[in-house]
This record gives sequence, structure tokens and C-alpha cells, in this order.
Amino acid sequence: MTIDIRPLRENDLPEADRIFRLAFGTFLGLPDPTTFAAGADLIGTRWRAPASNATFGAFDGETLVGSNYAASWGSFGFFGPLTVRPDFWSKGIAQRLLEPTMDVFARWGVRQSGLFTFPQSPKHLALYQKFDFWPQRLTALMAKPAAAAGKAEGAFDGSRAELLAQARAVTDTVFAGLDVSGEINAVLDQSLGEVVTVRDRDSLAAFAVCHVGPRSEAGPNAVYVKFAAARDDRQFGALLAACEALAVRRGMGVVTAGVNTACHDAYRTMAAQGYRTQFTGVAMQRGNGAGYLGPGAYVLGDWR
Ligand SMILES: CC(C)(COP(=O)(O)OP(=O)(O)OC[C@H]1O[C@@H](n2cnc3c(N)ncnc32)[C@H](O)[C@@H]1OP(=O)(O)O)[C@@H](O)C(=O)NCCC(=O)NCCS
Repeated sequence: MTIDIRPLRENDLPEADRIFRLAFGTFLGLPDPTTFAAGADLIGTRWRAPASNATFGAFDGETLVGSNYAASWGSFGFFGPLTVRPDFWSKGIAQRLLEPTMDVFARWGVRQSGLFTFPQSPKHLALYQKFDFWPQRLTALMAKPAAAAGKAEGAFDGSRAELLAQARAVTDTVFAGLDVSGEINAVLDQSLGEVVTVRDRDSLAAFAVCHVGPRSEAGPNAVYVKFAAARDDRQFGALLAACEALAVRRGMGVVTAGVNTACHDAYRTMAAQGYRTQFTGVAMQRGNGAGYLGPGAYVLGDWR
């Protein structure tokens, strides 16, 4: 077996997507592993946003056997989904995929990087520790049925460039250089969903990058908050209500969002608003750095 690591081409995407579902579905013990994350697209959406994502395929000859994706959020980077075809597990392929992933973080100049994984899996924790990622606080993947009571916020009143600049001003207060322009552009360019905004007089006070429905990362019947940031608790509460209003307007039954429990105030506010945890993961960060996670950080995003 000679494994070659190279970027994915468009015609690799169906097999990369199949392996992604098969690998997670097998690990989680689903009766039909290929039904994992049915209706959601986590692979093609990243591949189609090359300005802020790098893709890596592991090939045995011409046969794709695994893949990984690195995302650039300015001064922060994360990777995943990392998957290897089950009949190739425990042959060092994930480690081969992680080597160029670390190189791309260095090339992008990220100050901090992280990932989301299964806290109960000794293999996963050990694998990432080899690359200096260490387990930290739990990340709760939460959901709330969308109710009509959510207050709709007006659409952002300005150009794409203004939205990106004002969003950057919000994230910069969370962590210097944090910049999710790539996520915003991916959602708008690929029509994956909407960017929900909350204003405070003339400036942006909070925003959420929301995927909506099938063929986005949300999947059927859901709004998935891929990233959100707010300047304070009040604005964060208004943002959650606005995400719910988006779900109602778009006919989606549920709002889903991941929150790291290190962001204690945000986590408590979500619980108080009726969000319930569906799945528990753990954040691992390189060098055990804190990055932007902290008690007063009103930030959503699970790094999946
Ligand atoms: C997780 C996954 C990507 C790992 O891929 P892989 O190619 O099997 O992993 P590798 O063989 O490169 O590395 C595993 C390492 O963990 C080590 N390991 C496994 N269990 C361990 C334990 N209990 N303690 C210490 N080390 C352990 C292995 O020995 C190996 O290291 P080595 O090569 O030095 O021996 C793959 O199993 C997969 O696709 N799983 C389903 C999807 C998934 O969970 N993806 C990751 C989500 S975060």
C-alpha cells in the first residue's frame, strides 16, 4: 500500500462524500452507515469554497480511501470532517492526512487551531494528541424546535463588503484576527442559507451564519448555525430569537447550533432559551491554547 496525499478534484467528491458517511456511520454503529447525516452536505460545500478551505484526499493508487478539510477563519483554523474508509482504519492514513493539514495552518499563519471530536474515544484523543491537540471542554450540539414567537430582524441593509467588514469588527473583539468571511461568502455564493444580523444603532451587534435545509450543512428541516458571535448577552439572546424566526420563515422545524461549554454564559443562555443537547463532543486545541473560547465569549460554532 502506497498512500499519496493530494487535493481533491471535483470528480472525487461523490466518493469522498460516501466515505465520510460510511466512516461516521460505521463508528457510530448505524444499521445502514451510509445514512449518516442524510440530506446534509459537509464535503461539497467546503470544496466549493476554496478561498477559505483546503481539501486533502488520501489515495491508494487511484483509489480514494480518506479525506480531510481545513478551514481558515482568519487567525483561527480548524479541521474536519476527517474520515478514512473503514477497511483502511489503523494503517496510519489519518496521520498522513493530518501532516499537510498542519502545514496549511502554518502557511495561513493561524494563531490557534482546533477540532471537534468524540470525548469517549481513546483512539481519537490519542490520534490528535500526536499533533499537539489536547482535549478541553465539552461542545454541546443543541437543538430547539422553531416556534413562531421568534422576533424577525430586518435583512442586513448594506453591501456584501459592508457586511463582511462589520462582521469582522464583531469577531475581532472576540479574538484578534478572527474572520469568518469565508463562511459568509460560502453561504451567500452557494445559496446555502442566510446571514442573520442584529443591529445596535449604526453598527452590527451580532450575526449568525446560518445553513438552511437540504444540500447545506443543516440537512432537511433544520437551520444550522455554523458560526455566530454577539457583543453581549442581550444581543446574543436577540440573535437566537432571530435565528428561530428565520427557521419559521423558511419552514424549518428546528434550529441547531453547537456551543462550547467553556463559553459558559452563551451555553447557559441557550439552555435558558429552551435549547437541549442532542450530542456531546469535545473541543481539542493545539498547544492546549484557549483561543477564543472563554466564559464571556458569546460565540457559537462546533468546528465539525
Ligand atoms: C478516526 C479515524 C479518522 C482515524 O483514522 P486512522 O487512519 O484509522 O488513524 P491512524 O491509523 O492514522 O491513527 C490512529 C492512531 O491512534 C493510535 N491509537 C488507537 N487507539 C489508541 C489508544 N487507546 N491509545 C493510544 N493510541 C491509540 C493508533 O495506535 C494509531 O497510532 P500509531 O499509528 O502510532 O499506532 C478513522 O477511524 C475514521 O474515519 N473514523 C470514523 C470517522 C471519525 O470518527 N472521524 C474523526 C472525527 S473527529
